[in-house]
Amino acid sequence: MRLSRAVNLADVREAARRRLPRAVFDTIDGGAEDELTLHRNEAAFRDLLVTPRPFTDVTTRSTRTEVLGQPVAVPVLLAPTGGARVAHRHAELAVAAAAAARDTVYVQSTVTSYDLESVAEAAGGRAWYQLYLPEQRAQTPAMVERVAAAGYRALVLTVDTAVFGGRERDRRNGTVLPIRLRPGLALQGASRPAWAVDFLRGAVRLPGPWSAAGGLSVRATQEQILASPSPVTWADLARVRALWDGPLVVKGVLGPEQCGRLVDEGVDAVVVSNHGGRQLDGVPATVEALPAVVEAVAGRAEVYLDGGVRRGTDVLKALALGARAVLVGRPYLFGLAAGGQAGVERVLDLLHAELDRAMALTGCATVADVDERLLTRAGRPSGG
Ligand code: FNR
Repeated sequence: MRLSRAVNLADVREAARRRLPRAVFDTIDGGAEDELTLHRNEAAFRDLLVTPRPFTDVTTRSTRTEVLGQPVAVPVLLAPTGGARVAHRHAELAVAAAAAARDTVYVQSTVTSYDLESVAEAAGGRAWYQLYLPEQRAQTPAMVERVAAAGYRALVLTVDTAVFGGRERDRRNGTVLPIRLRPGLALQGASRPAWAVDFLRGAVRLPGPWSAAGGLSVRATQEQILASPSPVTWADLARVRALWDGPLVVKGVLGPEQCGRLVDEGVDAVVVSNHGGRQLDGVPATVEALPAVVEAVAGRAEVYLDGGVRRGTDVLKALALGARAVLVGRPYLFGLAAGGQAGVERVLDLLHAELDRAMALTGCATVADVDERLLTRAGRPSGG
């Protein structure tokens, strides 16, 4: 399967699978332990059915919306994914440029191959920054200051990685993060020459310390975070809130319990996420968890859904249940692997076209028209 012939996201994944060494494909594609949650994220979308709605004039339609006051062409944002350079040498720069070209938001991970200023610039003002807190918390102010100076519009604090999940495909393949060309991978790379050439080319621009005042280097911080992530506490959240003037997003919420406090602490948006099934296996699918979070937040913050979105109808379903937008991770990494920036754009185009079509067929001229009445659960009669 070639990218140019891909008609949906499953085809893009297949194109990536053919280009990448097995261990690299697995580290992107895989989830934790039995991958129950990974599969459930997608299956739960399939269990929700959409009701068509004729007799509505949908000749003129728009998928445009706003996230944290920022206009986007489509309610599909690009989730933070560390180590994108294993997919393509232009990595974060290509993803950021695709977000700019398609007028959406790219959430840049703390774990990156390019310096954050270049990525912010490539995103043309559309980038948000995902923060993993460093073990040495004293370093946080310098990080946050630099993120602000680089022009990132929102800070996304990921809270579901007290430790990293049990990624058994990685363990089986002997994959250690960050991925380097160790002998095992070099051997697999031999049968994936296009990938191997790309992986060995290109510079990585990771500058020294976080601030002119010195301290740990960006690379050292990343390696420390990958080696031993640390739990985020309420005190951490309060400190980050005090350090960051712009919109603050918390990523990794799956239940309603903490939502009231999150909003009270000054969080502007929550991302309902199970890290794409890569952390605790056996937790609910994000689309199952979404309604209770929307109810608990009660309009006091924006709510996004992340995990398992593979179709425009999935986007429609998430919006119908109260999400303002969705984030996708693996789909655009596969696009990146298969075709660099153009591959990421293709993924966004496919989702855009599918969402637009689904909106037309459900009688929605704008995303504001998408509501819960569109949905019914498999096996149950339509709610109307
Ligand atoms: C991730 N994810 C992630 N999340 C985060 O907050 N910081 C990070 O650095 C990463 N890194 C990362 C790497 C890779 C290879 C993947 C696949 C995922 C999780 C990501 O932001 C998102 O939650 C999931 O990818 C969403 O699920 P889907 O869209 O992949 O099903």
